[in-house]
Amino acid sequence: MVQFTLPKNSTITGGKEWPKPAGAAPDKLRAYRIYRWNPEDGKNPHTDTYYVDTGDCGPMILDGLIWIKNNIDPTLTFRRSCREGVCGSCAMNIDGQNTLACTRAMDEVADGPIDVKPLPHQPVVKDLVPDLTNFYAQYAFIEPWLHTTTATPQKEWRQSPEDRAKLDGLYECILCACCSTSCPSYWWNSDRYLGPAALLQADRWVNDSRDEATGERLDNLEDPFRLYRCHTIMNCTKACPKGLNPAEAIADLKLKLVERQV
Ligand code: SF4
Ligand code: SF4
Ligand code: FES
Repeated sequence: MVQFTLPKNSTITGGKEWPKPAGAAPDKLRAYRIYRWNPEDGKNPHTDTYYVDTGDCGPMILDGLIWIKNNIDPTLTFRRSCREGVCGSCAMNIDGQNTLACTRAMDEVADGPIDVKPLPHQPVVKDLVPDLTNFYAQYAFIEPWLHTTTATPQKEWRQSPEDRAKLDGLYECILCACCSTSCPSYWWNSDRYLGPAALLQADRWVNDSRDEATGERLDNLEDPFRLYRCHTIMNCTKACPKGLNPAEAIADLKLKLVERQV
């Protein structure tokens, strides 16, 4: 059943302001307000304020987070790996927008403290780390690998440059979850609606000329919740840090479902 009030222990209460780093030039200090929650201390989440010496770290939001962890508070928890916008693991909500911490510069956020929270509407593992178990299960559900029935060719499955080009705008998805966690339909129905990321990936396989399971793939999506919970609100496309267009991919799937009926 839908719950309209927040559980008591999820309310954000207070937080600590950490001392400004000694020796930093005042005009180089940038405040970060960061969501903190530790499942092991039994306390409610809180927002801690830290001051980053921007003269001593790189220019990206992720650089500031790493600086805080190395210089002020080693308990601050977040995911990151590539720091190049490739792995998708540093996705978080920065200044109210879902994005990648490693490709968003501090300068791109308006003056004042930088608010950093985990991706919205997902269970939190700790601090800025969301639990993406359901998100990945939905990705697995669309079976993101080549399905074939004809005999495997000796060397490779061939594809013309024109057919390969049909995957542009789809294959680049890094599964960061910025889109799905910005989608209101996904917030309320993530148990049954696949969400924009999994659907964009589904469209990638439906459009792959080498794949021989297009009919089955579309059958699996023809469901009032899995696909049709998308109401074209477009938050997903606005959120994608890779400039992809999940809403268009969803529209393509809907069109293909209609086309096969006529
Ligand atoms: S277009 Fe569809 S998937 Fe994208 S935010 Fe809107 S409802 Fe969600
Ligand atoms: S479509 Fe964009 S926002 Fe969504 S998971 Fe892929 S890269 Fe991230
Ligand atoms: S650390 Fe890999 S995308 Fe940001």
